[in-house]
Amino acid sequence: MKKATFLIVLLIVLSLVFSGMLLAQAKKGGGAIAATAASVWDYLKKEGYAKNWKMWPGTTSMYQGPEPHGAFLTTYVNDAALKAITGKKGKFSDGAIIAQDNFSKDKKLKFISVMYKVKGYNPQGGNWFWAQYKPDGRVEAEGKVDECIKCHVVQKGNDYVYTSKLK
Ligand code: HEC
Repeated sequence: MKKATFLIVLLIVLSLVFSGMLLAQAKKGGGAIAATAASVWDYLKKEGYAKNWKMWPGTTSMYQGPEPHGAFLTTYVNDAALKAITGKKGKFSDGAIIAQDNFSKDKKLKFISVMYKVKGYNPQGGNWFWAQYKPDGRVEAEGKVDECIKCHVVQKGNDYVYTSKLK
């Protein structure tokens, strides 16, 4: 009888530890978001990226940008991406997200362009998930988008990004 009680308690403790581990994993953020435009958009909204995330170090709100993204740009990064940039790591870690607001000449928000680093997602393309949205969340492009990759591949040595040197 005692043994049975002990086993039951052990089982309960083990299952608590295990679910705690799962929860901690989910809370880590980045890595837990599915590589789909819908779930990345939900995450950006939930985070309030344009209010709560840092801007890419060295950039300001509405800086003048080159084509094709728009006349003015504001580029936000999550914590994982920020660490890679400030730490001069040369590469982003899994879970890094860059969200760039793209404005027209008259400073209207036209698109939001996103890069999200996903473990094993696309080894030939730096494991980036690409997405572009209209301001209301409508998806213009998502996934391993050739158009995005074709241009960003020029920066392959800089983990596919343009805004600043990662080393
Ligand atoms: C013709 C070239 C070109 C194409 C096509 C292109 N980009 Fe870019 N992208 C750039 C340039 C140049 C920058 C740097 C702008 C700046 O000064 O921040 C940039 C910046 C970005 C950034 C900020 C991080 C960085 O690289 O500095 C994101 C995110 C981004 N692009 C996403 C996308 C997505 C998503 C697509 C496809 C829907 C796409 N881009 C297509 C040229 C391109």
